[in-house]
Amino acid sequence: MTGTAAPAPILSLENIAFAYRSGRPVLHDVSLALAPGESVGLVGESGAGKTSLLRVALGLQAPTSGTVRFDGTPLPPGRRASLRDYRRAVQPVYQDPFSSLDPRMTVGDSIAEPLRSLGIPGDRRARVAALLADVGLPADAAGRYPEAFSGGQRQRIAIARALAPGPRLLLADEPVSALDTSVRLQVIELFQRLAAERGIGMLLVSHDLTVVAALCARVAVLEGGRLVEEGPTADVLSRPAHPYTARLLTSVPRLPR
Ligand SMILES: Nc1ncnc2c1ncn2[C@@H]1O[C@H](COP(=O)(O)OP(=O)(O)OP(=O)(O)O)[C@@H](O)[C@H]1O
Ligand SMILES: [Mg+2]
Repeated sequence: MTGTAAPAPILSLENIAFAYRSGRPVLHDVSLALAPGESVGLVGESGAGKTSLLRVALGLQAPTSGTVRFDGTPLPPGRRASLRDYRRAVQPVYQDPFSSLDPRMTVGDSIAEPLRSLGIPGDRRARVAALLADVGLPADAAGRYPEAFSGGQRQRIAIARALAPGPRLLLADEPVSALDTSVRLQVIELFQRLAAERGIGMLLVSHDLTVVAALCARVAVLEGGRLVEEGPTADVLSRPAHPYTARLLTSVPRLPR
């Protein structure tokens, strides 16, 4: 913790507990705060509750107890209109760029979709062209369909769409896991640039600790729905305080292949 000088969090998850309708609790008293522009990694074994925590943070699932706060204001669960500002400010990025893009929509329409659905005014064509340039794709990509693009290019398109409403925070669930190693590095560099140039923060779920180390100064470790360790990434990775983290370090491939 950085003490009294720390800026007010942009996102704070406070004592979050959560259970799916049908089942036992999958998150227990999880508290995690992100400062504006900060990137935090979220790691943990399969089934630890990482995706569930992101879904609660996105307002897609209401916590059983606890509060999600954005800029200090609690998220009202299930009230779409009042979530509109939140939907602009906090955007998801998913693992699979093949299933996250509608194959029947042109790339330009896909990227413009959040501008339409959130009622954001302005010249959409120009905005789409600028977003394509931001993620390193040519302007003529707008008129083509997802099938014309590789996995890495599709993930760039998905990132352009996430950037469209001008978010301050990305909630990313394994955003580079489906990509080949060289493409993965390019997308990591893109995220680094977005953080450095625009101050866009990220809550990043990844199995790959090299990805977390490249993008996040801080990391949180989830085990069985509980946050068991949190701290500067370099410290946690080199001297894990919790036996679970140490196990995770040995079970995850860490060196570039
Ligand atoms: N839609 C659902 N309905 C009921 N239970 C679910 C649902 N989705 C996940 N779960 C359960 O919730 C727990 C946490 O799952 P979650 O998907 O959040 O884990 P995860 O850390 O994201 O795992 P992975 O690394 O495999 O993606 C697991 O026990 C899982 O079986
Ligand atoms: Mg998951």
